[in-house]
Amino acid sequence: MSRAVRFDEYGGVDVLNVVEVEDPVPGPGQLLIRVKAAGINPGEGKIREGLLHERWPATFPSGQGSDLAGVVEAVGAGVDAFQAGDEVIGFTDDRASQAELAVIDAAHATRRPAGVPWEVAGALFVAGATAYAAVRAVNPSAGDTVVVSGAAGGVGSLTVQLARRSGATVIGLASEHNHEWLRGHGVVPVTYGEGVADRVRAAAPEGVDALIDTVGGGYVELGLELGVAPDRIDTIADFSAPAKYGVKAEGNAAGASAETLAQLAALIDEGALEMPIAATYPLDQVREAYAELERNHTRGKIVLVP
Ligand SMILES: NC(=O)c1ccc[n+]([C@@H]2O[C@H](COP(=O)([O-])OP(=O)(O)OC[C@H]3O[C@@H](n4cnc5c(N)ncnc54)[C@H](OP(=O)(O)O)[C@@H]3O)[C@@H](O)[C@H]2O)c1
Repeated sequence: MSRAVRFDEYGGVDVLNVVEVEDPVPGPGQLLIRVKAAGINPGEGKIREGLLHERWPATFPSGQGSDLAGVVEAVGAGVDAFQAGDEVIGFTDDRASQAELAVIDAAHATRRPAGVPWEVAGALFVAGATAYAAVRAVNPSAGDTVVVSGAAGGVGSLTVQLARRSGATVIGLASEHNHEWLRGHGVVPVTYGEGVADRVRAAAPEGVDALIDTVGGGYVELGLELGVAPDRIDTIADFSAPAKYGVKAEGNAAGASAETLAQLAALIDEGALEMPIAATYPLDQVREAYAELERNHTRGKIVLVP
């Protein structure tokens, strides 16, 4: 038996429990992972509350979590690329990473470079693959100015850095407490809220070429108001915007692969990309971890450490 996060009904953080479960068993092509770190994501909170029931229903009892890093404990039939003892970064689509033991497809794993700390490795998948896909969707290059909303959040903090690597000027919308961190990464910080369009215009006198929205609730409209072409706007948080305005909505699904993870991990390993870790919590404090995330001002990632 081993411990795993479970919930038996939709609700607030109080429905989350850590319970003893049968150890999962790797099938053909799969790895059993002893989890060292598992990141948490806002989408998991929305699923747990039942807010995404039409799109992604839960079945009960439900596990939770996609992101993980850990040590291979056993391999299923037909796995040649990994063996017990290998340190990997990976993901599962089965809501199962927040546990002492998890099974993932071997095709969803890549080796952990020595310079990527466990908590960073364990939080990389959702935010990393999403940032990667969002930046690719707007295709920035030197001479462009790109605006990113939620610029210091889990997805945003990676998005601004990946966009900067293209040589573009990046304007990051964030609260004051994140401005210094953004400046330190070559990003021009701008405070969001009333008057944001004028502040962006002042920061980008030659205009804005692309916008990546990681927040929803009006940032696609801000991009259109600033004159950005719809095909250079990508949102990961406003699901109605593509049909309404012809903007893009490339996010996690578009970037999800072991190859993306390997590329991002290599950048972190060589010091070219930072994933800020706002907090780590033991698995037992899963409720506290999501309560902090739901306050909606996390810089980077919150990570569970089983
Ligand atoms: N479609 C996909 O594939 C996909 C994938 C991953 C995430 N998502 C969604 O994307 C969103 C962001 O995810 P995340 O993991 O980056 O979240 P997060 O780490 O919790 O970051 C949230 C950020 O939002 C900022 N924020 C809060 N209120 C804001 C406002 N009114 N205007 C602008 N910024 C505001 C905060 O910035 P300050 O602290 O600076 O105020 C914080 O940095 C969530 O809705 C999530 O569900 C979608």
